[in-house]
Amino acid sequence: MLHDPNHVYIFDTTLRDGEQVPGCQLTTPEKVEIAKELESLGVDIIEAGFPVSSPGDFLSVVEISKAVKYPTICALTRANKGDIDVAVEALKYAKTPRIHTGIGSSDMHIKYKFNSTREEILERAVEAVKYAKKSVEDIEFYAEDAGRADVEYLALMVESVIAAGATVVNIPDTNGYCLPDQYGSKIKYLKENVKNIDKAIISVHCHNDLGLATANSIAGLQNGARQVECTINGIGERAGNTSMEEVVMILKTHYGMGLNSTINTKHFYELSNMVSTMMRMPVQPNKAIVGANAFAHSSGIHQDGFLKHRENYEIISPDDVGFPNASIVLTARSGRHALKFHLARLGHHLDKGELDLTYKTFLTLADSKLNITDEDLLMLVGAGKLV
Ligand code: KIV
Ligand code: ZN
Repeated sequence: MLHDPNHVYIFDTTLRDGEQVPGCQLTTPEKVEIAKELESLGVDIIEAGFPVSSPGDFLSVVEISKAVKYPTICALTRANKGDIDVAVEALKYAKTPRIHTGIGSSDMHIKYKFNSTREEILERAVEAVKYAKKSVEDIEFYAEDAGRADVEYLALMVESVIAAGATVVNIPDTNGYCLPDQYGSKIKYLKENVKNIDKAIISVHCHNDLGLATANSIAGLQNGARQVECTINGIGERAGNTSMEEVVMILKTHYGMGLNSTINTKHFYELSNMVSTMMRMPVQPNKAIVGANAFAHSSGIHQDGFLKHRENYEIISPDDVGFPNASIVLTARSGRHALKFHLARLGHHLDKGELDLTYKTFLTLADSKLNITDEDLLMLVGAGKLV
């Protein structure tokens, strides 16, 4: 497959891995609406569902395939003919369909999930890819729990499925177990030791159980992977998947890495809100990139530095991700500079003496009140007879 060696394919799995979260289930029309937004965002691949899992998921894959034009539409299967047949059927309207099939690769999964052997699992993996390839050209293979798999066995599995026709090989850290250097080394090993690895794209799929999903995905990309599987807001099983907005903004901020995506980052904030609302899953306020506090400056030291030059404390412009505005939040940790800024915003330009006086009263109030409002500020300047 020919591709720009620096292009990172963005594979969104909000509607599959993300939607597996209890309480986050979506209707088919809601999924179609999100899929259209993902298309506007510029994702390369949308994993639309796991068609054999339920009639609703099957229908969603059908409807998304009809509604979406540019991204590849991907459907998940286990490594068996029944699942693959249903996925092929669900994808029949997709302009560019992809089957995502796979099986466990760690000894833990081989023994305790499949009660099987490495040899048998390898055979099933190859058979599944060959079977899917008869109906769909683009086949992605996932080696589930690759994060804990023996790397030599993993390499053999990856080499075998590429020989069988896989175009993308997904190396999931299913349990979010790896450290970034371990995960990165695994990708590097595959890159250096698998015959014909350049015939396929290596994909990273990291879960967030130790809070390392984004770091591990980046380590994978730095070691040769060129597809990243992620979700909006990092939603997903247990502690979640890699957050798309984090990975994409890392690539943009650290442009020196030389990796790029075609994501229109200005849509992030809006899409984050849409997904959060539809899935009934609030975004934590300190969530990177899209959390309510992601661009809020609250301590005096930071506020003063920000007001002198915003880049002192801002590595991403809120505008770049469609965030309404950076904010200077007034708290008991704020300094005179922030107070002066807000009073000026309200039309009150204080000299040094007036500011010192007002700041004292402000601190007393801020120690006893969580949110300082514009009304509070006006009351303060009124009380100080400065208006
Ligand atoms: O986490 C995982 O291993 C998965 C696979 C099904 C790709 O979601
Ligand atoms: Zn997953």
